[in-house]
Amino acid sequence: ARKIIIDTDPGQDDAVAIILALASPELEVLGLTTVAGNVPLARTQENARIICQIAGRGDVAVYAGCDRPLLRDLVTAEHVHGKTGLDGVPLFQPAAPLAPGHAVDFIIDTLRREAPGTVTLVPIGPLTNIATAFRKAPDIIARVQEIVLMGGAYFEVGNITPAAEFNIYVDPEAAAEVFAAGVPLTVMSLDVTHKALTSRAWVETMRESGPIGQAIASWTDFFERYDREKYGSLGAPLHDPCTIGWLIRPDLFKGKHINVVIETKGEFTQGMTVADWWGVSGRPANAMFISDLDRDGFFDLLVQRVTALDAA
Ligand code: BDR
Ligand code: CA
Repeated sequence: ARKIIIDTDPGQDDAVAIILALASPELEVLGLTTVAGNVPLARTQENARIICQIAGRGDVAVYAGCDRPLLRDLVTAEHVHGKTGLDGVPLFQPAAPLAPGHAVDFIIDTLRREAPGTVTLVPIGPLTNIATAFRKAPDIIARVQEIVLMGGAYFEVGNITPAAEFNIYVDPEAAAEVFAAGVPLTVMSLDVTHKALTSRAWVETMRESGPIGQAIASWTDFFERYDREKYGSLGAPLHDPCTIGWLIRPDLFKGKHINVVIETKGEFTQGMTVADWWGVSGRPANAMFISDLDRDGFFDLLVQRVTALDAA
């Protein structure tokens, strides 16, 4: 199985991504590293442990990481995810404690311990932990197999400002360093994730799956509210699960290998992913920028994996 570390700020859609990964034999989740993002770190690290427990995998190591962006004040997204970040299901005190040590050190130690080119990083929150690990231990950069992240936008442009997507906007300096690091990079932009919209029929199928499917249905119901008000769209966008979907079934996705740089200085465009879709900059490609997916294939995959986990 392919070894991955999921770096996360749960988040209902983070929760679905984590569960999909834990339900997939193609992937071995070495640990979850948590970061401040949708809600402060105190909540994201606890939420991650709650998610593992709901998935029946309280044994998965969860580490706490950076509690604020490299240079800026933290911007959160309670307006999307609710006060807890995981609104939609009743929360509880997780049975498993936090794993000892800092998330950044776990990332460094794991990359140094495992054979070069065998560990994939899957960041689905702001990129603070990843950039901090690269700063602290530049030797690990060449050992990363690939980074598959959720962030950015081109055609769909912004969801937190008119120009920027949330994960990149929160820590643009971190994102700029990660995008420039030279690691093979796959980017799940809003262009694809805004097409990964849940349908009523899918939510009801999930609800019938068992306790794990029920939790997912309640989370996506909560998450959908924001998008309905904001975009008038029917359905919740499953941003973060696209990263895991790609790792299992890349054939379900479409994109282009292009140059992407991050705007850190703009007055109105801070955190923008400047994506050279038409190749006009002359800068070399550094990212597989994903913009489309086979929606039915993706949602069928989720049903198949979650029902199997519920039945286990
Ligand atoms: C991203 O921001 C968060 O709100 C979601 O969890 C996702 O990672 C979407 O812009
Ligand atoms: Ca997230």
